[in-house]
Amino acid sequence: MPAQKENLTPALPGDGGSGISSDRLQAVARGDNVPTEVHQSVFEARPVLKINAFSLWYGTKQVIHNISMPIPRNQVTALVGPSGCGKSTLLRSVNRMNDLIQNVQVTGDMQLNGDSIYDSRMDVIDLRKRMGMVFQKPNPFPMSIFENVVYALRIDGEKNRSVLEEVCEISLRGAALWDEVKDCLNDSALKLSGGQQQRLCIARAVAAEPEVLLLDEPCSALDPIATGKIEDLIQELRGRYSVLMVTHNMQQASRASDYTAFMYLGRLIEYGPTSDIFTNPVLQETESYVTGRFG
Ligand SMILES: Nc1ncnc2c1ncn2[C@@H]1O[C@H](COP(=O)(O)OP(=O)(O)OP(=O)(O)O)[C@@H](O)[C@H]1O
Ligand SMILES: [Mg+2]
Repeated sequence: MPAQKENLTPALPGDGGSGISSDRLQAVARGDNVPTEVHQSVFEARPVLKINAFSLWYGTKQVIHNISMPIPRNQVTALVGPSGCGKSTLLRSVNRMNDLIQNVQVTGDMQLNGDSIYDSRMDVIDLRKRMGMVFQKPNPFPMSIFENVVYALRIDGEKNRSVLEEVCEISLRGAALWDEVKDCLNDSALKLSGGQQQRLCIARAVAAEPEVLLLDEPCSALDPIATGKIEDLIQELRGRYSVLMVTHNMQQASRASDYTAFMYLGRLIEYGPTSDIFTNPVLQETESYVTGRFG
């Protein structure tokens, strides 16, 4: 398949004065193949999702280059990297939302709990029901708070009021929103603040019991207080849900995730436990990025 060189090359750390070498990133920018540093402990965790030699092209432009990575079960994994490096594209590839874009081609595969995501026999509607996705901007449906949360159950034909009420309460408690909305469940979700709407979207995703929860910069449209609440919520989900989260915010990645993957121009550069990536990365390039020296 044709590969076209990206025209968007993030500024690299220079070696002038700082002593930082960015050989590997310069090699990537030239279009060379570079090895990925994946820490051994990543392979020791039980995966919920496996990304296997996955590449993606928009038309003739290749934006994901042969990425392989397991995503650990019941842990939070953060995808970080400069703007345009393919984080959202990789996330959208997991639930095959990129199918909706014309001229997208992929090679390789992903597996959700052992099921091939890109197998021609995979029912994409069914696949998407097995995952939850939360975007940058909260997108509550124009209906009541209650109906937003139980939406997936309604689609599945659940009519038992007590089941719906129970799931609604558990999900809203799980999303740390119950106390704020328990007396106005029949009000429109659109009346909530941005931060409350985002927690509602997470409650809606959690209510469907997703095998993986995909979060694409879930705090970027929120103020610091609402952001703090979402970060607390992500901490709460830890251990119970498998979360794959894109973030631009290094503090957020270091606080809220168990594993961190650093991407650059469509390649996976280094991937390991968050504590290692932030305090003892294998590559100087990773250290430069997570300490804010470029990107
Ligand atoms: N629908 C599309 N058609 C063509 N090119 C696209 C499309 N969506 C994204 N791209 C390109 O693919 C590359 C990766 O984009 P993507 O949105 O995945 O990056 P990102 O890492 O999420 O960036 P950001 O941090 O800015 O959100 C970019 O060069 C972008 O311009
Ligand atoms: Mg993005």
